[in-house]
Amino acid sequence: MQFKTSRSISTITPYEPGKPLKELERENKIQSAVKLASNENPLGFSPQVTRAVLENLSSMNRYPEPVAHDLCANLADIFQVAPDNIVLGNGSDDLIALLAHGFLDPGDKALMPLPSFLMYEISVKTAKGVPIMVPLSGFDTNLSQIAASVSSDTKMVFITNPFNPTGSIITRDAFHEFAAKIPSDVLIVVDEAYMEFVRDTNVFNSLARPLQDPRIVTLRTFSKAYGLAGFRIGYGIMDREVAKILNRIRQPFNVNGLAQAAASAALKDQAFLRHSVDTIHQGIDFLTQKLSAMGLEPLPTQSNFLMVDVRTDATALFYKLLRKGVIVRSMKSYGFDTFLRVNAGTPEENQTFITALKAVLPPTP
Ligand SMILES: Cc1ncc(COP(=O)(O)O)c(C=O)c1O
Repeated sequence: MQFKTSRSISTITPYEPGKPLKELERENKIQSAVKLASNENPLGFSPQVTRAVLENLSSMNRYPEPVAHDLCANLADIFQVAPDNIVLGNGSDDLIALLAHGFLDPGDKALMPLPSFLMYEISVKTAKGVPIMVPLSGFDTNLSQIAASVSSDTKMVFITNPFNPTGSIITRDAFHEFAAKIPSDVLIVVDEAYMEFVRDTNVFNSLARPLQDPRIVTLRTFSKAYGLAGFRIGYGIMDREVAKILNRIRQPFNVNGLAQAAASAALKDQAFLRHSVDTIHQGIDFLTQKLSAMGLEPLPTQSNFLMVDVRTDATALFYKLLRKGVIVRSMKSYGFDTFLRVNAGTPEENQTFITALKAVLPPTP
């Protein structure tokens, strides 16, 4: 049967998630695989999250609150905005899709770096918009080229800070210079999924002075530093008119009740967040030092992951590491044929990765 499929959808390359741990363990009959492929928190989440989830479990016969009142109030308090500047999503993935669907008419353009987090392109195409991808300059977002690519039918620009997959950042000065070139009616979506890990104080943090610029939509997630990836919850902070549009089209119960409870509890345990971020920083420093000692050149990173040139086919090496029970990411599909991306795990996981990498890396000629 030949279905009359959508032209824009047929050009979408499906998002390939990091290989799930359970799948690898099942396939290779191993018990303790190590996953350093999806930039998750290796420490799990706060014990307060466990308590909150268990307390709320018995009310899961009820629909969740359509607007998570307490969580929005907490976020509003932390970032000094009003609750109606906040929209929650089923992960920040959901917010990316809502922005594309809420703002793009067929044929409208959305600019983004190339490569980028794949959900920007997928969401723009499913909304029948046209993604315009601007190649990186080295390992950095090419802000001047993005600004130069704006045309009369550009409705939004996606910026990721820190950048996934290279770990580079956009500084305050660079951002302000860029924003000055963007028309007043173009949304600037700043995806800050990894902002909690940044150590460089020159970073442009859009929530340091939120809502100063009505074009900026900040996306944050509970999936990374807070360790709630499996619950699926992220938040956006934006002008209320933008928030109204997202609220008009979102599913009324897009964030499930356990995710709401988990995020509220996670937000209250800032000590766990600090401990997680410290552990990740130590992991990044360890990986950087060990990879350098092996004669490799890991890229400097401001995130919880780093990219390293392994000077051989990255996908072939990825499969060799898989067989040793270590899941990382080959960056070949991102155009970096000889680079792996690995996130910081626990000290034991980091050591397991280094040992496995030493075992599978071809000897240098
Ligand atoms: C840059 C970036 N944005 C957004 C997301 C999506 O996160 P969430 O789990 O909140 O949907 C990710 C996840 O890997 C990401 O890397």
